Amino acid sequence: MTTVQTIPLIGPGIHRVDGPLKVTGAAHYPSDFSFPNLAYAVLVQSTIAAGSIRHIDTTATLAAPGVLAVITHENAGQLGQGPIANLGAPPPPPLQNNRIVHYGQHIAVVVAETLEQATAASQLLTVDYDTAEALLHLVDPRAEVLTNPWGLDQQRGDVATNLAIAPVRVEATYTTPAETTNALGLFATVALWDGDTLTVHDTTQYPVHVRATLAAAFGVPEEKIRVLVPFVGGAFGAGLRPWPHVILAALAAQRVKRPVKLVLTRPQMFTSIGHRPNTVQHIKIGASNDGTLIAIEHEGTSSLGMEDNNIERLTAGTAAAYACPHVSTRDRQVRLNIPSPGSMRAPGEAEGNFALECALDELAYELKMDPLELRLRNNAQIHPQSGLPWSSKALRECYKQGAGLFNWSRRTPTPRSMRDGRWLVGYGMAAVSYVWYQPPCQARVSLFRDGTAYVRSAATDIGTGTYTVMTQLSAEFLGLPLDHIRFGLGDTEMPPAPNEGGSGLVGTLGSAIHAACQQLLVAFLNVVSHDTASPLRGCLLEDITVSHGRIHRKNDPTQGEEYTAILARHGLEELTVYGENTRPQPQKMGIAPAGAFGAKFVEVRVDPDLGLIRVTRVISAIDGGRILNEKLAASQIIGGAVGGIGMALLEEAVSDAETGRIANATFSDYLVPVNADVPNMDVIFVGEADPLNPMGTKGIGEIGLIGIAAALANAIYHATGKRIRDLPITLDKLLS
Ligand code: MOS
Repeated sequence: MTTVQTIPLIGPGIHRVDGPLKVTGAAHYPSDFSFPNLAYAVLVQSTIAAGSIRHIDTTATLAAPGVLAVITHENAGQLGQGPIANLGAPPPPPLQNNRIVHYGQHIAVVVAETLEQATAASQLLTVDYDTAEALLHLVDPRAEVLTNPWGLDQQRGDVATNLAIAPVRVEATYTTPAETTNALGLFATVALWDGDTLTVHDTTQYPVHVRATLAAAFGVPEEKIRVLVPFVGGAFGAGLRPWPHVILAALAAQRVKRPVKLVLTRPQMFTSIGHRPNTVQHIKIGASNDGTLIAIEHEGTSSLGMEDNNIERLTAGTAAAYACPHVSTRDRQVRLNIPSPGSMRAPGEAEGNFALECALDELAYELKMDPLELRLRNNAQIHPQSGLPWSSKALRECYKQGAGLFNWSRRTPTPRSMRDGRWLVGYGMAAVSYVWYQPPCQARVSLFRDGTAYVRSAATDIGTGTYTVMTQLSAEFLGLPLDHIRFGLGDTEMPPAPNEGGSGLVGTLGSAIHAACQQLLVAFLNVVSHDTASPLRGCLLEDITVSHGRIHRKNDPTQGEEYTAILARHGLEELTVYGENTRPQPQKMGIAPAGAFGAKFVEVRVDPDLGLIRVTRVISAIDGGRILNEKLAASQIIGGAVGGIGMALLEEAVSDAETGRIANATFSDYLVPVNADVPNMDVIFVGEADPLNPMGTKGIGEIGLIGIAAALANAIYHATGKRIRDLPITLDKLLS
């Protein structure tokens, strides 16, 4: 079916191909770019959460040294709304009216010769507001509630009846706070107009959607706009939506007829590029006395901006997680005067899994059953919602190998029963079933007379390893040495790629590159189809294979020739072709598409007097299908686990209850894990190639984070006997 061969390139993996560029500073991130005659833009933001601007006085700002322009809602002009893409529509364009819907909303942009002049002048702007009462709290009864906002709520069986008759029940409410992505690299946009042609360097995980959004905003054809992002820096989901400041940078450049750079400040990183919305979740679970699940009800509510839309499916994973006959999942969103939420690593899944996997732990104690045994008993052998077999599933193997390495069997069931000196010791675990996502993607590949290939697609690399893995795959598909492959991304002149998100890029882009490489081989075979000098004359794709820069017959490897020989003999400088991923049709194939699965095991030590929590061991056992680069994949899982520790113990964006201002919008007040908070962590990969793409992969971008918060909360309960259902788990909650 394919010419894929397993060669040593795939598996243990190579070092990052972009590593040398990064450590020598040769990798340029969006804020590193400049153009001659550059001007600087600084954002001014609302200091109220709700109301309207009565008057905005720009006189002093305009008179300040170096100022080139001040743009407000009064002179911004009309900007169009960007289109819907894989993750929905972008937020509404900025500066279109005098309404204020959240603290930190952009109300003006000041452009000056230097950053310092723009910053100083921006502070001279005076604004009179009409302040309205803000809706800031998820439980505010006045707030608009969207029920089943995406039509994706799930239902099977009769939950109400079966919950009522279940012999064992747990019911609990869990909350998670607002969290911010806050990559170290500040998000930046550098914009240059040349006539009606716009070039933009932008921190984005989705260049083609930024292009479409700018095209709509300015009413210019997409072909006139080029978005570039060879290196994104950290993004963690914040780069998935085209944000208003991107439009403002381009607007500023248009207005002053000069290139403009706009770099968010650290506090602006808390309000301008989305955040994980806060949530309240109710879970009810009914089981029989032997631990067989009977019914699960999961209702999740998350916050949403007043004029925004955002997809945050808290309950997305619940219906498919366990073999339970009666399940109901419901998502709700509440419109508040808060900055727009957006994706943050495993959006929705991370919070939903916390509630579900903590509730199962609570059930295990009710049943006096080992939490691992409870999960094994209810393992979904087939997809429980559709009844179809999974495309692949090795969750049992995750449990087995993870528990084995962790020594889970040493756990004594009673809370507070394990100690290490004065420290209380706790073991906790959680399971993860992730969703599947393979959107459309295209790639282009050229093979040149010198025997090198150039493979490209308008995808991005947020540090996860797209450059590296796509170079490996291209080398494998073309039978070329790694150093003969150049891989390009992050440029909308390249064929369109989806967002680097939803753990979908390796599957979808790898498939597109596979298709392009197959097309390239077909193109070579066409060139020699009537070439009497070629031993490949008359061959079809299924007759040949590739290695060492050479195409040869499968049935007789001595019969073949090098790409370069074919090009030379036919006077060709290169062959270039497109490819598009074949979108698998799992339902037609009679299978349920599986994302990755995982089992997470965590050990904590808790100081019983002070409530100090130390994470001492984390083991992640992952079924990610075929792993293309174990080194980068393990690094990805470990990075996610660090994020999970942050979610469990540290991260919380605290809003002032009156004004909605984020009170801890600095890295000294918004805490993330540092080395001292993170133990050595082990990663185990299990499972087999999944059949739904030619590489056999399943997405592992987000599964590293999911489950850590629940496993940690469960370990803390085991250590202390104290069940904390509200993240983050801080020592004051443990001691109160
Ligand atoms: Mo991710 S939140 O899909 O970058």
